[in-house]
Amino acid sequence: MAPRGVAQFGRALALGASGRRFESCLLDYAVIIMHEIPFIVKEDFLDEGEFSQVVEETETLLDSFIEVEFSRPATKDGVILKHSSGMMYDDYYNGLSKELSPTVKIFHKKIFDNFLYSEFDQIGTLCHNLNWTSMMISYYENDDYYKPHFDASFITGLYWFDIRPQRKFAGGELYLYNGTKFMQPDAAIPFQPVNNRFVAFPSCYLHEVKPIVLSERFKGQGYGRFCITMFCGHGS
Ligand SMILES: [Fe+2]
Repeated sequence: MAPRGVAQFGRALALGASGRRFESCLLDYAVIIMHEIPFIVKEDFLDEGEFSQVVEETETLLDSFIEVEFSRPATKDGVILKHSSGMMYDDYYNGLSKELSPTVKIFHKKIFDNFLYSEFDQIGTLCHNLNWTSMMISYYENDDYYKPHFDASFITGLYWFDIRPQRKFAGGELYLYNGTKFMQPDAAIPFQPVNNRFVAFPSCYLHEVKPIVLSERFKGQGYGRFCITMFCGHGS
């Protein structure tokens, strides 16, 4: 089934090619019978200049990454569902990330200046007044994961990128389920964490990060899975 432009929603199975920087990524789409999930996919999301700024800032922040508790991750029965490292941009910049972080500024511009979320089918108009955001960066190495959970925001945006020229990890797919806390899922859409790919979906849908596989010899060198998350919502 041919994709409808760059904004995709519902009834599609997205299978991405492994990422190579700035090369277009092929998507194969197939119709599957399931509850519809609104989502948006953007390939080659950042241009070369923006990408370089994000990588440069990430290299700077990398030594300050801390273990999973930084992000106040989802829990179930008191058990933390996530294992990775990273940081909240506002924690690092003392609440001034929108002024001081090149990455935060770039993402705000890409998403809000261009009304990106108005491309959501059915819920696009509900995104017009989004006025609250929080951004974090996560880093997954060997066996890191995030089990099925949902987020407290209205829209979750995820951006995957590599800071090393050659990707060394496998796995780390995002599974977006067609269910919520109150609706049992019966199918999921798997997204490969392709370099320079952005995906957004309503935060109430269950989603999961499958374990990352990375050889021991590449551990601790930035060869794992980087993901920038932008949570958006309606503040008071
Ligand atoms: Fe999440």
